[in-house]
Amino acid sequence: MAEINYPEIQGKHYEEVLNFFSWDLSKHELGFKEDDLINIGEYCSDRICRMGKSDKLALIWEGHKGEIKKYTFNDMRQLTNSIAVFLQNLGIQPGERVCLFMDKVPELYFGFLGILKMGGIAQPLFSAFGSESLLTRLEDAQTSAIFTQKKHLPKVRNILEKLNCLKHIIVVDDDGSKPLKEREIAFNMDASARVDNFEIYPSKAETPSVLHYTSGTTGRPKGAQHVHISLVSQYITAKYVLDLKEDDIYWCTADPGWVTGTSYGIIGPWSNGITQCVLDAGFTAENWYKFIEKHKITVWYSAPTAIRALMKEGTEVVKKHNLSSLRHLTSVGEPLNAEAVLWSKEAFGLPFHDTFWQTETGSIVISNYPGMKIKPGSMGKPFPGITATVVDLKTYLPIERRGIVGMIALKPGWPSMFRTYWNNEEIYKGKFRNGWYLCGDRASIDEDGYYWFVGRDDDVINTAGHLVGPFEIESALLEHPAIAESAVVGKPDPVNMEVVKAFIALKPNIKPDKMLELDIMNFVRKKLSALAMPQEIEFVDKLPKTRSGKIMRRVLRAKEWGEEIGDISTLEEDM
Ligand code: PRX
Repeated sequence: MAEINYPEIQGKHYEEVLNFFSWDLSKHELGFKEDDLINIGEYCSDRICRMGKSDKLALIWEGHKGEIKKYTFNDMRQLTNSIAVFLQNLGIQPGERVCLFMDKVPELYFGFLGILKMGGIAQPLFSAFGSESLLTRLEDAQTSAIFTQKKHLPKVRNILEKLNCLKHIIVVDDDGSKPLKEREIAFNMDASARVDNFEIYPSKAETPSVLHYTSGTTGRPKGAQHVHISLVSQYITAKYVLDLKEDDIYWCTADPGWVTGTSYGIIGPWSNGITQCVLDAGFTAENWYKFIEKHKITVWYSAPTAIRALMKEGTEVVKKHNLSSLRHLTSVGEPLNAEAVLWSKEAFGLPFHDTFWQTETGSIVISNYPGMKIKPGSMGKPFPGITATVVDLKTYLPIERRGIVGMIALKPGWPSMFRTYWNNEEIYKGKFRNGWYLCGDRASIDEDGYYWFVGRDDDVINTAGHLVGPFEIESALLEHPAIAESAVVGKPDPVNMEVVKAFIALKPNIKPDKMLELDIMNFVRKKLSALAMPQEIEFVDKLPKTRSGKIMRRVLRAKEWGEEIGDISTLEEDM
C-alpha cells in the first residue's frame, strides 16, 4: 500500500479538516496498521519512552495536604509493569475484570494501565460509591480483584459475603498498623520492585479493555464495554479538540471513576505524550486557581457544574492569581450555558469550549473545535469522522429541516464506540434504530450545523455532570422500613443543573417528619452515594401511575420544571 501523506491538521480550520479527515489519519500518526497488536497500556507508556520522552514528566500529582509526587514516562512504564506482574502473580488471567476503587491517587492512574498491560479489563468505580452501588456493579461484572485504599475498605468488607467472585482485595496504602483480613493483600506501588521488561499482553483492536458503568432509566446500571482500538479516537480527539501540544501542562478535573477521567484523564493525554496534573483534593475556587498557577496549567478540561461554582465565587478571586499560563479551556458533562462561556471570557480571557459525548461513545463526538466560531450555549459541530444528525422522535428518520428538535443519533463505526453492555446485549441492541445509534438526548441543529442541546430523552438525572438512574435510587428507597413506594426525578438546581428529588409514599400508620426525612436521605447516601441522595423529599399519599401500574415520573418531573405534562391519557386517575 502506498504511503499516504497526511497533512498536519492541528490548528487548521474546521471545514478544511472535514474534507480530508479519516480515522486512518489517527492510525497513521500512531504508527498503527490493520491487524497490528494494540495495547492501551503500551501505547501510553512504553511507546512514549521509545519516542525519546522517557524523562519527560507524565504525572504531577498533588494530594489534599499539598504533598506532591512526580513521575516521568519511564517511571510510569516501569510501575505499570510492576502492577501487571503483581496481578499475574495473584493468578489474574487476561479477560478478568479488575476494579479500581480509589480516590485520585497515582495508583489509580497507573493501576488502570497496569491492568490493561496484563490483558485484564479495567473497571473503574467512583470511590464515593457506597456498598450497595459497589455490590451491584461488581456482581454484574463478576469482578475478580479490586484495588482500594484503607479508607474505602469497610465498604468492600461489607459486601464480601455476597461476592464469591471477588478473590483479591488489593490495599494500596496499607501500613501494617491493622491486620488485613481474608482475601486482602497489601501492595505498595512506590516501594515495589521496578519491572523494566514485561511481556505486554498481545491485545488486538477488538480485545476488551475498559468496563465503565453508566445509569439508564430502567434496570440496574449497565457496563459499557470498550476495546483497545478506542485509543485511536481518544488520541486524535485529545489532540485536535483539547488541542494538546508537546509542551502543554494539562489538567482534567474529572475522576477516573467516570469516563471523562479515563478517556481524557489517562488515555488521551498520555497517548499524546503530554504531561498532566492531578489534584486529589476537594473543590474550592481558591484551591483550583492556586493549582493552575503553581503548575502553570495550559489546557484545562472541566465541567459546567464546576464552572458555575467558580462563577459564584466571582472574578475577584481570579484576579488574585496569575493564570496567564492558561491557553485553552474545554468542558463536558452537561449543557454549558451561554453565561458560563461569556463569564469565562471575562474572567480568564478565554471562552470554555463545550464538548458533548457519553460513556458509550468513548470519546468526544460533538464539540467546539479550536478556532471554530463559538456560539455560546451551543455544543458545536460533529467531530470530523463522526456522522451525526437528529432523528424524529417517532420515525427515527433524520430531520432535514433545521431548528427542529429531535434525538441525537450517530452512525456507528468510530473506533471508541462501546461494543456492548456487559451481559446485556438486548439493551445494547435497543439503542439502535434505522442504522443509527441513539444517544438518548434531544437537540436541534441550526442553519450553520451547530447542535443545541435540549434535554435527555429519558428519566436519567444529570447531577453535577454525573448520571444517576432513578431506578437504582428507588430500589434503595424501597429497602427503607418506612417506605411503601417512591418515584425519583431530577429537580432544577442553579449549580448542579439537577438534584435528586424523591416523592415518597409511606407505609400505613407512619407519619412523615423532619427526622424521618433526614434518616431517608442518609440511608441513600450510605448505600449509594452523596450524588444519589435526594436533596429534597416530598411525602405524598400516592404516586401517579399508568393504568398498568407503571409510575409516571414524567408527570412529577414536568411539575418540578414547570413544563407541560404532555399526554396523560394512560394515567390511572387524575392527580
Ligand atoms: O445527557 C448528556 C450529558 O451527559 C450524558 C452522558 O453522560 P456520561 O455517559 O456519564 O458521560 C459524561 C461525560 C462524557 C449525555 O448523554 N452531556 C454530556 N456532555 C454534554 C451533555 N449534555 C449537554 N451538553 C454537553 N456538552
